[in-house]
Amino acid sequence: MRTKIKDILKNEQSDYKVNIKGWVRSFRNNQFIAVNDGSCIGNIQVVIGLDTDEAITKRINAGASVSVDGTVIPSQGRGQKVEIKADTLTILGDCDPDQFPLQIKNKPSLEYLREIAHLRFRTNTFGAVFRIRHTLAYAVHKFYNDRGFVYLHTPIITASDAEGAGEMFAVTTLPLGKPPLNDDGSINFKEDFFGRCTNLTVSGQLEAELGAMALSEVYTFGPTFRAENSNTARHLAEFWMIEPEVAFNDIHDNMDLAEDFIKYVTGYVLENNKEDLEFLAQRLSDEEKQKPMNERSEMGLVEKLEFVLNSKFERIDYTEAINILLDSPTYKKKKFQYDVKWGIDMQSEHERYLVEKHFKKPVIVTGYPKEIKAFYMRQNDDGKTVAAMDILVPGIGELVGGSQREERLDKLTERMKEMHIPADEMYWYLDTRRFGTVPHAGFGLGFERLVLFVTGMTNIRDVIPFPRTPKNADF
Ligand code: 4AD
Ligand code: MG
Repeated sequence: MRTKIKDILKNEQSDYKVNIKGWVRSFRNNQFIAVNDGSCIGNIQVVIGLDTDEAITKRINAGASVSVDGTVIPSQGRGQKVEIKADTLTILGDCDPDQFPLQIKNKPSLEYLREIAHLRFRTNTFGAVFRIRHTLAYAVHKFYNDRGFVYLHTPIITASDAEGAGEMFAVTTLPLGKPPLNDDGSINFKEDFFGRCTNLTVSGQLEAELGAMALSEVYTFGPTFRAENSNTARHLAEFWMIEPEVAFNDIHDNMDLAEDFIKYVTGYVLENNKEDLEFLAQRLSDEEKQKPMNERSEMGLVEKLEFVLNSKFERIDYTEAINILLDSPTYKKKKFQYDVKWGIDMQSEHERYLVEKHFKKPVIVTGYPKEIKAFYMRQNDDGKTVAAMDILVPGIGELVGGSQREERLDKLTERMKEMHIPADEMYWYLDTRRFGTVPHAGFGLGFERLVLFVTGMTNIRDVIPFPRTPKNADF
């Protein structure tokens, strides 16, 4: 039976027989093989006899897969407590050094690795990122499960545009070249698979609200799709989102839940992925050394996460946020690319000023102008703002977007009319306001942005196994 390298390295005992399987990272002095099986960042050193048949040794190349039977012994060398003295070594799969795209020790760039799908996973960096991504996903479920939430699977194919931003991918089986047409020349979706125009979902929120109106506390955790043409380091066309929705919660409960949630999952990784985090912290600090002094961050990755865990998120009003920006030296020196005034949808540069320069910690902004937010947000008494909340974090900008929902049928339908959202098509949503409506609130947390934040990686493409971005859907 195969033993995982992680377990051998962890228990540090010796004098027992094992079988390990993995991929060769390096082979030196015709004797020492570093083998990694992805269970942890560390390699195990396998020592083979100098008398090993050359027919075998010439096949021990970086990238080749091997199976080793041997004895775990105290290591003679430095750098590891135990190693394996091999009795037999079998090559499972050869790896031709002349064709293997690179030796991992040459530190390939992240951009280069994005193009070589199979190799990416074999590197220390991506191994660490995807183990942490896994831990985060597990911690998400654990957090909500421990609080009695019900995990609700909302549909991926939908007919409604929850955010009303019109950034949807169409789902159709109609022939693209010659779709059936109505008399007025528009496409006749009655003949389409679902008998209507359908899309990939941008958010599971509206459906989750129906669940919350009966189960009280639900959350979704699934893929969402946005056809926004933003080629940035923070946007994906396919990303995962966690959306809790809670009956009887107001905007303050919503902020508490989101803050607890972010702290819990961050703490869970700090506790369970120490080695991977330390590796990524080192990587980040090496990267920082390339930057000019004034652009380097003051904290290392682990300190940053611990700091977030231990600080109370700043809670401010949108109007206050705008005033801080207007008062800032950056604004006065005209260094913001986009203008600042009450009513704007804050740009990433503004959000990052607030968290990185002004408060130097996560910030929750509430009370946004209704014009820049979705139809379902609860209208405040001032008639101008809604009970929205965005959570901004250092290095990322917006991590969470949420709100208290408009539970009053008349206010909701009025707002939908103003925003030209057809109420008849949304009858199933409005029914929740007709039959036993209650105040409720929820939010969406972008999972990849969370992974970015926790791993200290800088491009969102590097924290999802197979990124989907404009003009890119390889593999
Ligand atoms: O702020 P958004 O658009 O909110 C909603 O979709 C609400 N329906 C959520 C809710 O209240 N249930 O998106 C929520 C979060 C953002 O804060 C961001 O972290 C992430 O989703 N996000 C993206 N992540 C990666 N790529 C994109 N293109 C993203 N768009 C949003
Ligand atoms: Mg948002």
